[in-house]
Amino acid sequence: MEKFLGFLREYDYEGALITPSSNLYYLTGMAPQATEERLFLLVVNKEGESVLIAPKLYENEVEWENSVFWNDEENPYEILERVLTSLNLKSGKILVEDTMRASFLIQIERLLEDCTLHPLSGITRELRMRKDEKELSLMKKAAEIADKVFYEIISRELIGKGEKQVALEIEFLIRELADGVSFSPIVASGKNAANPHHMPGNREIRPGDFVILDFGARYKGYCSDITRTIAVGHPNEKLKEIYEVVKEAQERAFQSVREGIKAKEVDKAAREYISEKGYGEYFIHRTGHGLGLEVHEEPYISQTNERILERGMTFTIEPGIYIPNIGGVRIEDDVVVKKKGKRLTNAERELIIL
Ligand code: CO
Ligand code: CO
Repeated sequence: MEKFLGFLREYDYEGALITPSSNLYYLTGMAPQATEERLFLLVVNKEGESVLIAPKLYENEVEWENSVFWNDEENPYEILERVLTSLNLKSGKILVEDTMRASFLIQIERLLEDCTLHPLSGITRELRMRKDEKELSLMKKAAEIADKVFYEIISRELIGKGEKQVALEIEFLIRELADGVSFSPIVASGKNAANPHHMPGNREIRPGDFVILDFGARYKGYCSDITRTIAVGHPNEKLKEIYEVVKEAQERAFQSVREGIKAKEVDKAAREYISEKGYGEYFIHRTGHGLGLEVHEEPYISQTNERILERGMTFTIEPGIYIPNIGGVRIEDDVVVKKKGKRLTNAERELIIL
C-alpha cells in the first residue's frame, strides 16, 4: 500500500476506488466473498487516508480503520458522496478498479463529474509484476501442489473415464491441498486436444489418445498453471513426433529467459523452432502469460511484447501444436526470472505413456 501511494503521488492521481478484486487483496489482504450487487468499496486518497464502505453483513468479517457499514434501508451512494468530500476527492485523476461492475461505475461517475477516471491496473500491474520473496514462496507452493496432483492423477486408470470425470478428480485433488483451483481444469483427449481451451466433455479416454491436462492451484491467493500431455496406450507416431518438437521448443524458450531481455524474445525462441520444424501454422497462441494473483496477467509472452524481463517476474512458457482432426500437444511450466529463468513447476516433461 505504501508503494502504491508513492506511485499515486508520482503520477498525480488524487486517489483510488477499489472494489473486491485481486487488486484489493494485493493492497489490503481483504478478500470478501460474494459481494455481488452490494457496494463494497475502499476509497483511498493520495495522502493515504481511506474509508471502507461495505454492506452490514461484512461487519464481523472485515476490519478497516475507518469504515461505514450500510444496511438495506440506506443508499450507499449517499454515504460515498460524503466520503468523497471528506477525503477531498472531487476533481483530478482518480483510479478505478478495472473489474468494477458497470452498475457501480455509472452511479459513481455522477458523483465525480469533475474527475477523470483511469484503470487501477495502470499502477497495480507495475507493482504486481515484480514479486517479492514472500510472494515467490507462495507461488512455489502453488506450483508444487500442481506437480503433486499431476503425479497422483496419472497414477490412476484413465482409460474409460470421461474427460469431465478426470477434470473433477483433478479439482478434488487440488482442493484437498490448496485453497482452490486457479481455473477450471482442462482435460482434452484425442481430437479434442486440437482445441487449446477445450471444455471437458463426456468423451471417454481410449488407447491411442494423447491427453492434454492443464490445471492449476491457488494457494493464499497465488496461482500455478501447468500443462502436461500424456499418451494412453500405444502412441500415435505423428503425435509422438509433435511431442518432441513441443518439448524442445519449450526448453529453448526456457533457456532464453534471463533478466534484461524482452518478453517477445522468449516467444521467438519457441516459435522459431516450431516453424523450423514445419509446424508454425499450428502454434496458434502466444507462448505464455504472466502469473500471480491472477492466472493471466502481465508480462504476456507474446510476439509483440517489448516489456523487459526483470528479476521476480513470473510467467508461463507453454508452446503447443494443434492439428485439426488429429489432436494436440502442449507443455507448460511456471517460470520465475532470476539472473536466468528458474522453473517453479517440475513434473516430468519426457513423454509419459500410460
Ligand atoms: Co495452463
Ligand atoms: Co497458462
